[in-house]
Amino acid sequence: MNVGIDKIGIYIPKYRMDMRQLAIHRSVDPDKWTIGIGQEQMAVPDLSNDVVAMAANAAASILTQEDKSVIDQIIVGTESGVDFSKSIATYVHQLLEIQPFCKSFEVKQACYGATAGLQMACDYVRLHPKRKVLVIATDIAKYGLNTTGEPTQGAGAVAMLISKDPKIMSLEMVSYMHTNSQHDFWRPNYSHYAMVDGHFSTQLYVDEFIQILDHANKKNSELLESIEAMVFHLPFTKMGMKAIKGYEEYTHSDALTNKWRGHYDAASILNKQVGNIYTGSLFLSLLSLLIHDETLIPGTRIGLFSYGSGAVSELLIGNLQTDYREAINVTTIQLHLDRRVNLEVLEYETLFLSELELVEGNSKEVTALESGYYFKGIYNHKRLYGYYHEKA
Ligand code: CAA
Repeated sequence: MNVGIDKIGIYIPKYRMDMRQLAIHRSVDPDKWTIGIGQEQMAVPDLSNDVVAMAANAAASILTQEDKSVIDQIIVGTESGVDFSKSIATYVHQLLEIQPFCKSFEVKQACYGATAGLQMACDYVRLHPKRKVLVIATDIAKYGLNTTGEPTQGAGAVAMLISKDPKIMSLEMVSYMHTNSQHDFWRPNYSHYAMVDGHFSTQLYVDEFIQILDHANKKNSELLESIEAMVFHLPFTKMGMKAIKGYEEYTHSDALTNKWRGHYDAASILNKQVGNIYTGSLFLSLLSLLIHDETLIPGTRIGLFSYGSGAVSELLIGNLQTDYREAINVTTIQLHLDRRVNLEVLEYETLFLSELELVEGNSKEVTALESGYYFKGIYNHKRLYGYYHEKA
């Protein structure tokens, strides 16, 4: 049975920071961040677009009333959760008015979370082919001002509707996964920011990629050759290139890697403009490939390499469907990205440090920036959300 991604949509915050401008301000050669790391802009959220609001807006961009009546599960992958107990998925369920006999929950394993959600969703639809599952990746990547991780920040959400006979990409049932418990990137409950051993994490990512591909090749010696393009989890866009190079050095062959390099620029355009969105980064890269690579044709086999620090990785295999180009609303996505407003460094720093102050469990009301779902504030320790209609 053909099961996979039927629809895909994104939400990226309204504000962005230009990496060259920030690099100059930090006395860093801008080429280091734009060429060495591979980032041009990063999305900067304000208080009104938290992970719940971003998730709801991404999902709202793709769902019809009919979809909402057949969604049996909402699975949210995140590592920027807003509550230790109540899941983001429950808020999304309420805001989008999904049919009530539905289960809603959150999945966590660093940037791998949404991949686990996607796999669970496909398995469910294989058992219940008339039903659909909504999978959302939503995150705010924050390493801190003036840290080495600062150029690899970002924020955004990717929503995917999983169904039988999907219009965009079917996912094969066989995948290749690996767990290797490490501390390359983690965030203890008491810490506001993630802790990262950046160079170790980069090496671990490359090692995991090699290990998975080696394992896959031993299981099925024809698989890798059949993969036309490989998309990656991209915490920064140079990362996937390092993985390709690592595999090339390991195999002493560039036959496959040159083919994959040929599709890499298209697969990193959106990630360069948005930055790191953690668990959504892989799917943003997939979207970027599907929008910008004119050489792909229906039936093409695509590898998706998911990596979540800590570390869990998995290689999924997808097949492009006949009408995949028509199924992606490129104009809406482009308008959404083009609406963004550049920040000055001081404005970015102010937004970055802004926090909601609580007095006896209540906050001030948060102002919405633009039309869409937004975070309204905390009342009696409860997070409240609303929908704002901007006047034309
Ligand atoms: N012009 C062009 N290139 C330049 C340059 C210049 N003037 N100056 C330096 N460079 C190049 C360097 O040669 C280097 O390239 P290579 O890596 O190809 O050698 C690159 O720029 C970066 O230089 P450094 O390694 O010296 O940079 P750094 O010490 O500042 O660290 C970083 C870079 C490791 C990416 C750091 O920004 C970081 O730690 N970021 C966080 C990364 C991260 O999140 N890792 C986890 C990965 S997985 C994930 O997303 C987490 C998850 O699961 C949640």
